[in-house]
Formats: sequence, structure tokens, C-alpha cells
Amino acid sequence: MLKILVTGATGNVGTEVIRLLRSQNCHICAGVRNPMNAQQMLGSNVECIAFDFTNPDTFVNAFENVNKLFLVRPPALANVRKQIVPALNAAKFAGIEHIVFLSLLGAEHNSFVPHSKIERYINQLGIPATFLRCSFFMQNLHTTHRQDIKTYGELLLPAGNGKTSFIDVRDIAAVAVRTLTEDGHQSRAYALTGGEALTYYEVADIFTSILGKPVRYHPNALKFIRRMHSLGLSIDFILVMLAIYTTARLGLAGDITSDTEQLLNRSPLTMRQYVEDYRHFWL
Ligand SMILES: NC(=O)c1ccc[n+]([C@@H]2O[C@H](COP(=O)([O-])OP(=O)(O)OC[C@H]3O[C@@H](n4cnc5c(N)ncnc54)[C@H](OP(=O)(O)O)[C@@H]3O)[C@@H](O)[C@H]2O)c1
Repeated sequence: MLKILVTGATGNVGTEVIRLLRSQNCHICAGVRNPMNAQQMLGSNVECIAFDFTNPDTFVNAFENVNKLFLVRPPALANVRKQIVPALNAAKFAGIEHIVFLSLLGAEHNSFVPHSKIERYINQLGIPATFLRCSFFMQNLHTTHRQDIKTYGELLLPAGNGKTSFIDVRDIAAVAVRTLTEDGHQSRAYALTGGEALTYYEVADIFTSILGKPVRYHPNALKFIRRMHSLGLSIDFILVMLAIYTTARLGLAGDITSDTEQLLNRSPLTMRQYVEDYRHFWL
């Protein structure tokens, strides 16, 4: 039976990948830092095994007899050479046959982002791979921005009037599961976006109409930095977010591709659908 190791299994995308893999005929393994907690969260039918990118002692067990790896770079691990490469070397040594890597839209044009370095290293190792280059996740709105929307009725971030082709992580996971369980996706890269590009003014309007309370967009960089700092986020992380929102402000985040629709044989989920499905997070 195909054995698939899912990293980032307790995160936004990994949780959904595990959920969808349950209906496939495969042995699902979740590589997690805390197997006991993860087992409670992920439930039965999933083998939770210790895996930490920063602890090479965990690699041999985690990769044993694994055919396919769903690779998520934890956002806090930015030093690819020190923090990701050792696990990739171990994956190669263990004979992993295929890696599906959660990458970033445009990674191929931006050699500085960790995703680009990871893609290049996987290619260098010669492990057959599929790169899922994703646009901005809708789910950031109920994680990073949840409190602002819920408590203050504000969408506070510096993206100006730029459009973003948001994608729902449930669509990314559906593509991931297809590429993990079907032949024909090796040596491929997919640019995954949603089917519409929206400004944050339009996003705020969708929230207002679905939550039944006003949500206003404030594109104020200074207030954004202060608010994120007050939430306890590190300066490094805030700077990364600033860079991402600046990309949107400059009009560089709005491209829509057809890959998601072609791979799913349906339209990508919309922002309206996402806000409806997750509305309890902001009420
Ligand atoms: N957010 C976006 O809009 C966006 C867009 C495109 C691409 N991406 C990329 O997507 C990735 C993040 O995916 P996500 O949002 O699904 O992740 P996430 O929700 O931030 O979760 C991170 C996962 O990594 C695990 N983790 C943290 N440190 C670890 C370590 N040392 N060893 C092993 N596992 C560790 C965490 O597990 P525990 O804490 O439970 O151990 C958790 O499961 C990033 O590479 C990001 O750049 C994000």
C-alpha cells in the first residue's frame, strides 16, 4: 500500500490533506513534533510519527518505507540550508519516490524566497517532484487577521487598492491529494490561484454582508505594524507580511491562472464561500 508522509500535518494545508487522504487507499503518516497531541487532533487511521526538521534524529524513523512526501516548510524556518536541506538529504537517502512541495506563486522568479531554494535543491537531488505554487491563502483571514475582524470590525493591512487572487487551502489540499495519489504529476509545477482577484475593500464588503456587521478595510502600514506587534508576532514575521502586502499593493498578486480549475475539474472556491463556511471564527 502507498505510504504517504504528510509534514505540516497540524497546519492549515496539512490538516486538509490528511482529511482528504482518508478516502484514498493509502497508509497516511503525519510527521509531527508532538505525536500525542497530533493523534488527538487528527484521530484514528493516521499514524502520527515524530518528525522535526531541526532534529535529524527523527528522520530515519519518519521516512522509513515512505513512498511519497507532502512537504510543507514551516513559516518560521527560513534558513533552508540549515533547517530544510538535512531533511531533504534524508528523504533522498531513504529512497522517497516523489515529493509534492507546498510552494509559493512566483517562486521560480524570486530566488531569494525559501521556496525557490527548496525547489532548486529538490531538483538538484533528483527526487521526482511536483511544485504547488500557491497564491495568498484565504485562511490567513481567520488566523492572522481573525482578532482584528472579530473584535474591531477591521481589516487592517497595507495592501492599498491592489487585487489578490486568494486561494482556499481546501482547494490546495484537493490538488495535493490528486498529485500524490495519481500518476503523471512528476516534474510538474502548478500555479494555484483562486478564480477571482479581489481588493481588500471588496473582501471587507463580503465580510460585512455575510457577518451582518460592518467590517472596514484600513490600508495603514504603521497601524498594521503596531497591531501585529501587539499580537506578539516577531519583527521578522511582520516584515515578511509587509513585503507580501506590498506585492499586492503594487498590483503583483492579482494574476489568475487556470491550473486549479483544470486539476479539480470545477471552479475554485470563492471568497464568499470561504467566509460563509468559516463565519463562526469572526462572530
Ligand atoms: N499563508 C499564505 O498565504 C501562503 C501562500 C503560499 C505559500 N505559503 C507557504 O505555506 C507554508 C505554510 O503552510 P501552512 O499555512 O499550512 O502551515 P501552518 O498552518 O503555518 O503550520 C505550520 C506547520 O509546520 C509544523 N512545524 C513547525 N515547526 C516545525 C518543525 N521544526 N518541524 C516539523 N514541523 C514543524 C507545525 O506543526 P506543530 O507546530 O504542530 O509541530 C504546523 O503543522 C509556508 O511555507 C508558507 O510560506 C503560504
